[in-house]
Amino acid sequence: MLNVKRTIRGCEKLVNRFYTIFIQDALEALALYAYPWEATHMGRIISVVNQKGGVGKTTTAINLGAYLAEEGKFVLIVDLDPQANATSGIGVDFQALEQGVYEAVLGQVRMKDIVQPTAHQTLRIAPATPALAGLNVELVDMDRREYKLHESLLEIRHDYDYILIDCPPTLGLITLNGIVAADEILIPVQAEYYALEGLGQLLETVNLVKARIRPDVDILGAVLTMYDSRTKLSDDVLQELYKYFPRNIFRSVIPRSVRLAEAPSFGRSIAMFDASSKGAKAYERLAREIIETELERMPAV
Ligand SMILES: Nc1ncnc2c1ncn2[C@@H]1O[C@H](COP(=O)(O)OP(=O)(O)O)[C@@H](O)[C@H]1O
Ligand SMILES: [Mg+2]
Repeated sequence: MLNVKRTIRGCEKLVNRFYTIFIQDALEALALYAYPWEATHMGRIISVVNQKGGVGKTTTAINLGAYLAEEGKFVLIVDLDPQANATSGIGVDFQALEQGVYEAVLGQVRMKDIVQPTAHQTLRIAPATPALAGLNVELVDMDRREYKLHESLLEIRHDYDYILIDCPPTLGLITLNGIVAADEILIPVQAEYYALEGLGQLLETVNLVKARIRPDVDILGAVLTMYDSRTKLSDDVLQELYKYFPRNIFRSVIPRSVRLAEAPSFGRSIAMFDASSKGAKAYERLAREIIETELERMPAV
């Protein structure tokens, strides 16, 4: 009797394996063929970029990602920073991983196969590992070196509503891959005067990519981070920021909040760590504001 049960269980396993390996892929391909909407449902790829460190890129990638997921979206965060702050901040132990974004970008493994789950059901992460520090050197001599991330995301972009790319604090080849892979660029700007330095160079880089490599990449907007109402951002500074972004500074301003700084050490987004905090509410509003812009991006039929 026991043996029969075991045999049945063995058969079930075999069928399951067969299903995941062959049938699932075939069904996915068929669904894409049968439902062209699926094929055009590519999801939005948003790169979080600013060559300055410590301006809130990673905090924005994690918490915007978490609230987009809470709003029912399927979200993937791609950690493109060798420091792996987004990876550890969302609770994935990168020390325990054998492969990550480095191998996926170099085409040694499929992006699909490195994706890790998080505590949010519809939020996943393509983790960074320390190996990523060597990516620049690997890429330098390659053909189409600025397209490598773009190419590695092609097979999974229809699996997600949003892919958020957390870029490192440089304007080097890795960030260039982050910009080329994106449909839209989100720029966190720390609410203090010197944070505006370098914005010109950043926008110039995006414009160069638009002119020469990806004509359809756009600036989604700037989001003010670490805003402290006690040291009000002077009118001058806001005026200055409007010069760079005349139409697209997000209404949701992210306040300076200790809870936002504490959450990553617990491997939790602010949505799970302290959903009632000011920082949580701000990222929730930002997620909704970004979802509202989906309508503007609908192709005309
Ligand atoms: N709104 C905020 N309030 C308080 N601390 C913040 C806020 N945003 C980010 N931080 C903290 O500031 C530091 C830099 O933020 P981070 O998101 O890592 O920046 P980046 O990715 O641009 O280098 C981190 O320690 C982070 O926890
Ligand atoms: Mg970072």
